[in-house]
Amino acid sequence: MNFEKYPFEKLNELLKDITPNSSFEPSVLTIGEPKFETPQFIQEKLKETSSTLRKYPSTIGETFLRESMINFVQNRFNVTLSLNQIVPTFGTREALFNFPQFALFDKKNPVMAFTNPFYQIYEGAAIASRAEVIHIDMTQENGFKASLSDEDLKRCDLVILNFPNNPTSASMGIDELGEWVKKALEFDFILVNDECYSEIFFDETTKPASLLEASIKVGNADFKNVLVMNSISKRSSAPGLRSGFVAGDAKILKDYLQYRTYVGCASPVPLQEAAAVAWNDQSHVAEFRKIYKKNFEIAKEILGIEMPEATFYIWLKVGDELEFTKKLYEEKNIKVLPGSFLGRNGLGKGYIRIALVENEQKTKEALQRLKDFIDG
Ligand SMILES: Cc1ncc(COP(=O)(O)O)c(C=O)c1O
Repeated sequence: MNFEKYPFEKLNELLKDITPNSSFEPSVLTIGEPKFETPQFIQEKLKETSSTLRKYPSTIGETFLRESMINFVQNRFNVTLSLNQIVPTFGTREALFNFPQFALFDKKNPVMAFTNPFYQIYEGAAIASRAEVIHIDMTQENGFKASLSDEDLKRCDLVILNFPNNPTSASMGIDELGEWVKKALEFDFILVNDECYSEIFFDETTKPASLLEASIKVGNADFKNVLVMNSISKRSSAPGLRSGFVAGDAKILKDYLQYRTYVGCASPVPLQEAAAVAWNDQSHVAEFRKIYKKNFEIAKEILGIEMPEATFYIWLKVGDELEFTKKLYEEKNIKVLPGSFLGRNGLGKGYIRIALVENEQKTKEALQRLKDFIDG
């Protein structure tokens, strides 16, 4: 299979002959991995339950785990799911990669659309599914919103949206998402929203809506053709727990569950135990949000950027993003990700992605250094 190199691999190649300025501490703003300790109560649960390692985990997951996820969805989005409307996954990455292969398997000429620029797994999934790709281009001109012509939509078997969005940090409101649901019903394609960043928001009055809420709002209460994926990784600062879920259309999930028994990526029971306490608790997430909010306030002050509704990314326009990335590393010992590594057909060109995943002090120091570089 002809997979593209991963963006971080491309970055290593871009920077390999450059010696960074050693008078500064290295600052890595590339990876979307929270740099905060996983809360103690989650770690404790993992330790306490380690004796359950003697059990083979089941693909469907323990009922307590699914109930904790249902509880999260209820709490956060006021959407009531039943047990057959949710499937736990080993983080969302594996599901984003294998769900398209499952969904497109019996299509003769599969067509898959996804937002561009994008989280690279979507593209890998399309390649593994031998699917034709339609890119949903998100640009400054269209306000980084996702839309496709009816002509394209008619051809789609599967569409993956990602709002709140990595890397552009754009959001789509409940009514905009609702329009997508209507299209998924009209043209009969499966619509997935990757909602991994739904919990990294900064204002209670504008918190991101779920595609599930949007689906109910447009009258599709049983989520026909509609699925969401969500993850504990960013929300609970616990990417190592590998806990995510797919929720929505029970008919699709029933068959997907059967497929997953063959994939064999059930989560070990101690991880399920720890994940369940994390999904059930909303207060630690609110604490993390305060840190991200503070980081964005710092970024606003130093770089003059607008605060997004959600995510921890800054999508910054810089001109020649490759040159900028190299020089910034050389002169200031800061690593950022060139936008063009995250997009296709020229999307992402002229931008860099900055992940604000450090504490306040480190963020301030790094962004001030970045600003000094920009100001020359
Ligand atoms: C948009 C998006 N989706 C999914 C993931 C995967 O997260 P995980 O597998 O930890 O749930 C990431 C991780 O960076 C992401 O940025």
